[in-house]
Formats: sequence, structure tokens, C-alpha cells
Amino acid sequence: MRVLITAEEIASCVRELGARIADDYRDSPDLVLVGVLRGSFCFLADLARAIHVPLRVDCIGLASYAGDRAGAVRITSDLVENIEGADVIVVEDIIERGSTLGAALELLAARQPASLAVCSILRKDVPREHDIDARYVGFEIADEFVVGYGLDYAQRFRNLPYIGIPGPEDLAAHPG
Ligand code: IMP
Ligand code: MG
Repeated sequence: MRVLITAEEIASCVRELGARIADDYRDSPDLVLVGVLRGSFCFLADLARAIHVPLRVDCIGLASYAGDRAGAVRITSDLVENIEGADVIVVEDIIERGSTLGAALELLAARQPASLAVCSILRKDVPREHDIDARYVGFEIADEFVVGYGLDYAQRFRNLPYIGIPGPEDLAAHPG
């Protein structure tokens, strides 16, 4: 495993993002963070604690359709909270082609929040299928497969406190 972004670098980036968000939303009567399961769980927990204004926290689970329905997404686990009239920030682990997130934003917009923004800890330098206007991005990274801080390979490595690039020995060690 090659460390790409250390736990300390993540922590200081999350502090900055939290301060920016708190400043941008200081007058919001109703801020809701919506974490996209499962990859955002570490970032969501840290970010929520770095935003020192009142807010609500919820999560949404999404699955993309394979094959001919590429680009379409379905909700596997819906929000608990009502977001109508709320200022919503969707919290993501990584923006790659943007197709899942693009479709998710359409689904959420249909619920008529007062505003809808995106905060992702990572954005990968690949051609975007959906042009996602992410207001908050932690790190821009090259087109390499990364794990840790919520991101998985076959459900492993989500618990790494840093973001790393797995080597063949890490991927081979997987039993499945
Ligand atoms: P998109 O629809 O191409 O933007 O897909 C983004 C989703 O794919 C992310 O939310 C991740 O769950 C997953 N993903 C994309 N790149 C990586 C990676 O490098 N490591 C682990 N998961 C990734
Ligand atoms: Mg994801």
C-alpha cells in the first residue's frame, strides 16, 4: 500500500472544509448533510464535527444500474429526514465519472430543497460523464484506484485512516 494522503493531511483539509461550510451557511435556518453510503461514512463523521453551526445529518444509499441502463441510479436506502426547503449538502467520498452522483442530485432536487451543494473529499482527474458542480472538494487526485478513509476494494480497506494506492500484494491478499 502506498500512502497518497496521510491522516494528518485529511484532518487539516476537513477542518478547512468545515470552516468554509460553516461560514457559507452561517445564516441557514436548516442545514442538512446527506452522506452517500457507504464510502462517505468516515468523511461524514469528521466533516459534521468540523462544521460549527447547527445541522442535521442523514444518509442515502444508492446503486447504479449496470449495462444498458448505465447512468441511472436507484435508491437502496432512503433518507429519513424531509429535505424540502432545507439547505442540503451531499457528502461524497470521491467524484469520478460523476454518473451516480449526477443522478442522485436529480432525485434529491425533486424533493425541493432550498439549495443543493456537493462536498467530496476526493475528485479524480478523469473525463466526467455528468458535469458535477462540486462546491467543496478536498483533494484533486490522478486517475489511480485508491482505498481507505471510507473507500473500499471489495469492501476492504474502508477503515484505513489514510488514503492509499493498493499494490498487487494488497489486492491479491483478498480471499474472495
Ligand atoms: P462515479 O459515478 O464514476 O463518479 O462513481 C463514483 C463512485 O465509484 C464513488 O462513490 C466510489 O464509491 C466508487 N469509486 C470511484 N473511484 C474509486 C476508487 O478509486 N476507489 C474506490 N472506489 C471508487
Ligand atoms: Mg460512493
